[in-house]
Parts: sequence; structure tokens; C-alpha cells
Amino acid sequence: MAFLQVEDIHKSFGQEEVLKGISFGLEKGEVLSIIGSSGGGKTTLLRSLNQLIIPDKGVIKVNDEIVFDASEGKLSESMLRDRRLHFGLVFQQFNLFPQYNVKRNLTLAAELLCKERGKAAGKSAEEIKKEIKQLDAKAYALLVKVGLENKITAYPGELSGGQQQRVAIARALMLSPDILCFDEPTSALDPELTGEVLKVIGSLKSSESTMVIVTHEMEFARKVSDKVIFMADGVIEEMGTPAEIFDDPKSAKLQNFLNKSQNLGIDDMESGFNAREWAKVAQDGEECLKDNELIRF
Ligand SMILES: Nc1ncnc2c1ncn2[C@@H]1O[C@H](COP(=O)(O)OP(=O)(O)OP(=O)(O)O)[C@@H](O)[C@H]1O
Ligand SMILES: [Mg+2]
Repeated sequence: MAFLQVEDIHKSFGQEEVLKGISFGLEKGEVLSIIGSSGGGKTTLLRSLNQLIIPDKGVIKVNDEIVFDASEGKLSESMLRDRRLHFGLVFQQFNLFPQYNVKRNLTLAAELLCKERGKAAGKSAEEIKKEIKQLDAKAYALLVKVGLENKITAYPGELSGGQQQRVAIARALMLSPDILCFDEPTSALDPELTGEVLKVIGSLKSSESTMVIVTHEMEFARKVSDKVIFMADGVIEEMGTPAEIFDDPKSAKLQNFLNKSQNLGIDDMESGFNAREWAKVAQDGEECLKDNELIRF
């Protein structure tokens, strides 16, 4: 059984069936990129994994544990929240809290969780306080990881789009998700800021981190992924290794999509670095992870 197992996910909005039976598996430490034309259901799939959208049918398992099963019916809020914690999501539009500084953006949800779980486990106020104090160190370590420790007291409005997205990535990592999901993390950014965000995402690649990335950055997908899914009209039209998908596409729809992407010039030029640099980034990610036990992700 794969680390992430997605089985026969269906979702309709009104009369429109947007996901028509999606199934795939992903091993721990693997990176999956999801590509495809607009309206194909990529965001709906990612939101279904995070249960921001509740699928109509299907099962999702992480590490053999059921995190979603449509046949279970409606779950309590706290149970749903617990299940959601298996996934972290980085949005296209960053979605930082504008009224809080960077540190608070990182620690807020983790602190609430600490309190809730601590109380449920019967921990003393003293113990809970100690755990909350440790979150500061974790937040700092994650900001170092995304290269923004000098912005710890800044507010989102004082940061560039690329910096805000890097804070959003650190915030998602604060809750140590099993699987980190990105929905077109660079599409709201000016081209010159795209590279810095892709570089950070690439640096997270390690044997411990499992990621699902919806992206229009084809070269990035090729370099960072272990598997690629091409979605079209609510189904997985083709799935394979980057070489299979990008160098030997089988379906006419995928061939057509890749031709269009090339014509749009979506290539290395945009992210601004080459294969050797990507390899180096991935290696740095491993090293950084070994050095920092605070970050379980
Ligand atoms: N909340 C919603 N209510 C109704 N229809 C929706 C909703 N969310 C998505 N859809 C529809 O589902 C289809 C798939 O949308 P989705 O956002 O998943 O596509 P996508 O592959 O992410 O596209 P893009 O590349 O443009 O982001 C679209 O036809 C969209 O209009
Ligand atoms: Mg989308």
C-alpha cells in the first residue's frame, strides 16, 4: 500500500461532474506534479485531498490510515480538523493573515492546536506553555529554511509576493503535515520572483517530504517530480515518470497540451536555473533536514 492512496474520488458541482474517478498512489518522499489545462479539475482534486471540498465518493488513505471515506458520512468538526492535518496546503494567493507579523502567521495555528491537544490529553498548563514556547524555535528554523529569518517581525504587506509565498510555505510546514500540497504556487508572482519560490520548494525535496504540486511550470515539474499526472476533463489522462510524460506522451490530449505549453515559452527561462542547480537544491534540502530535527516534515 502506497503512503498516500487515493481511490476512486468523484466530485460534482451541480450537474457538472468535475472529478470522475481519480485513483493514484504516492510513496513517502515522492513528489507528484499535477499538470493539465484550465478547468480540468486540478484544484478540485487538491482541495479534495485537504477536505476543503468534500468528495461525493471515494477513499483517501495516508500511511494505511483512512483520512477520508465518503461512506462514513459527515464527521464532527474536530475529527475533520484532525484528518485535515495530514495535509498542508500552500495557496496561489498566499492567504497570509495581514494583521499579524510573520512570526505570528507561523505560530498561530500551531499554538491553537497545542492548546487543544494538550487539554484533550490532560496536560498541565505549565506543560502546554512549554510546548508553545518551543514553537518559536520551530518557526525560526523554518524561516531560516525559506531564507526569511530577517523578516520575522515584518507584516505581510511589507513583503514581496515571493517572500509572502515563502512565509506561506513555512507556515504550512509548522504543522508538520505528512503531505504538502501546492496549488500553482508561483502563478500569482511576477516572473522574476518565481525562481526564488521554486528554489525553496525544490529545497524541500527529501526522503522525508512527500509533496503534491499543481503547476504550470513544466521544466520545474520535470526536474522536481518523481511522478507526473496529466489531468483532463476530470480524469487522469496519463500518469508516469517525468521522462514518460514529457518525452514520450501517449495520448493526443497530452501531446497537444505539451505543444501549447512549449509555444507559450514555459521553460527554464522563467525559473532561471538549470538541471545542475536543481540537483544541488535537492541535495541542500536533504542536508538541511538532517541538521534540523525540529522539522519533521
Ligand atoms: N465551488 C465550485 N462550484 C462550482 N463549480 C466549480 C467549483 N469549483 C470548481 N468548479 C468547476 O470545476 C471545474 C474544474 O475546476 P478546477 O478549479 O478544479 O480546475 P483547474 O484544473 O484547477 O483549472 P485552473 O488550471 O484554471 O486552475 C471547472 O469547470 C470549474 O468551473
Ligand atoms: Mg486550479
